[in-house]
Amino acid sequence: MNISAVAESPVTEFEVHWARGRFNALFFGLIGPYLNWNLRRHKRRVFDQLPNRVVEIGSGVGANLRFLPADATLVAVEPNPHMHRRLRAAARRKGVRLELHDQVGERIDLPDHSVDAVISSLVLCTVTDPAHVLAEIRRILRPGGRFSFVEHVAAPARTPTRGLQRMLRRPWAWTFEGCSCERDLETTIRAAGFTAVAIEPYRLHTPFIPFNTHIAGTAHA
Ligand SMILES: C[S@@+](CC[C@H](N)C(=O)[O-])C[C@H]1O[C@@H](n2cnc3c(N)ncnc32)[C@H](O)[C@@H]1O
Repeated sequence: MNISAVAESPVTEFEVHWARGRFNALFFGLIGPYLNWNLRRHKRRVFDQLPNRVVEIGSGVGANLRFLPADATLVAVEPNPHMHRRLRAAARRKGVRLELHDQVGERIDLPDHSVDAVISSLVLCTVTDPAHVLAEIRRILRPGGRFSFVEHVAAPARTPTRGLQRMLRRPWAWTFEGCSCERDLETTIRAAGFTAVAIEPYRLHTPFIPFNTHIAGTAHA
């Protein structure tokens, strides 16, 4: 993928919604421990051995702070201002230094090749343009740097889960600020120009059936 072509395409800004923004901050604050418990094996594996300065796209209210090393600095790229108070408080509780960038992952104000590790969880489903975000991640990573992710994806075609994902796509996207359960993010990540990509698909068992098809992995710049 040509990074400069992607970087020149227009970037949609995050639309802050007074009610949904607050609802999502509250929802992820409440459900975060349950999701982390469900995802613990995958998160522990892909977020293992992170360096002590990590960039996270879409940090939300801080679900991944616990996977950072002691004495870490988190550079959080989080455009929903309703998440910020809880994220700051969670970082204080965990003793993580926080550099909060109130901006979208499609345009990150960090220099080229300046970071060793970028992480995300449950974010590429929601960003406006996943290919654009991945190009930004590649741009800021040093050669050999890693992008580690846990994301939910479209179920295989013609399965009941895929049918449900299609049926619920509008109310789901409205409630969760643009989230889509229909993205084939494995293909998008593999096409993003990383030098090496390792991805494990798996299925969660939660009552949120459209959300249960996942991938976790690491891509190297
Ligand atoms: C489903 S939440 C996940 C939050 C957190 N990563 C977690 O695992 O709990 C999606 C997050 O992505 C953020 N987000 C949405 N659009 C974004 C964008 N274009 N760039 C960066 N973050 C974005 C949202 O504000 C929200 O915090």
